[in-house]
Amino acid sequence: MSIHDEPAFKANKLAAGHGIDLSKLPKIVDMSPESITSNVHAINSNCPDERTKFIFKNLVNHLHDFIRETSITTEEWMATIKYLTETGKMCSDIRQEFILLSDILGVSTLIDTLNNAKPPGATEATVLGPFFTEDAHDIANGESIASEGKGDYMFVEGRVLDTKGNPIAGAVIDTWETDGFGVYDTQYTVRDKPDCRGRLHSADDGSYSFRAVVPVPYAIPSDGTVGSLVSKLGRHVFRPAHLHIMIKAPGFEKLVTALYLKGDPYITSDAVFGVRTSLIVDPKLVTDVSASKSRGFAEAKPHLLLKQDFVLGTLEECAEVRKSTMPAFAQ
Ligand SMILES: [Fe+2]
Repeated sequence: MSIHDEPAFKANKLAAGHGIDLSKLPKIVDMSPESITSNVHAINSNCPDERTKFIFKNLVNHLHDFIRETSITTEEWMATIKYLTETGKMCSDIRQEFILLSDILGVSTLIDTLNNAKPPGATEATVLGPFFTEDAHDIANGESIASEGKGDYMFVEGRVLDTKGNPIAGAVIDTWETDGFGVYDTQYTVRDKPDCRGRLHSADDGSYSFRAVVPVPYAIPSDGTVGSLVSKLGRHVFRPAHLHIMIKAPGFEKLVTALYLKGDPYITSDAVFGVRTSLIVDPKLVTDVSASKSRGFAEAKPHLLLKQDFVLGTLEECAEVRKSTMPAFAQ
């Protein structure tokens, strides 16, 4: 072995240790603004997973174009890396600042909308949010998901149907919401039991009903890097009042959605882009206090009545819709 062969020998051995055969890698040299993108594609071209290769080819294309089109400076790029580093430092077991960043950039909603596109006539989906828990109490139809004193009364009723209008019996309905202070039970330092959340089943005719409280707007966490970015962008951190719903039934695609109360001041500027026009509801004020009693509310006082049917798409119907919303994945 000559002295010139030794570095190559060492390099080949090192690369082989990572499962790479140096002789089979594309040769990339002469980097320039014009050639860098194709060079990155070339060096990635041996990726054994086609989906990974496809995703990174597009990521590199768009990222490089973004940098060219915006003339990102070195200082701006370093500030971006610093920002992302700080965002990572804010994450813990109970806080995920990156999901929040994804939310306020519309990425969560975009992914959710494409992945959960529904067939015509089915109830639209929207983002799950961070406050769902598995430990909600099971309740019978007509019972309450909220303990007394948690907010103004709201009665919710309707049916769970398929896209042909047939009732779906035995659907599992999870629902959760803020209390009248705009706070989820999980946000209180002391949480001895789940509150303002419950799980019930649709009846044989698809009907469901439960007592709840009127949800109110709330702010997403604003004391971190996402809060400062939202301020910099001239936006606010509020979400309009809403009631979360998740429905599961055999043969149907799980529906994760929420109902937004008409007239909410933040309904046209939701910080995380969750609102859909079809999900805006207009509960009626029931002033007949005898109706409050007959619906099981503890106090004879006016309440809101929210009537809402939910229409589920079958697994096949939803899969068919995604062929058009996610064509690259469907290939
Ligand atoms: Fe929420």
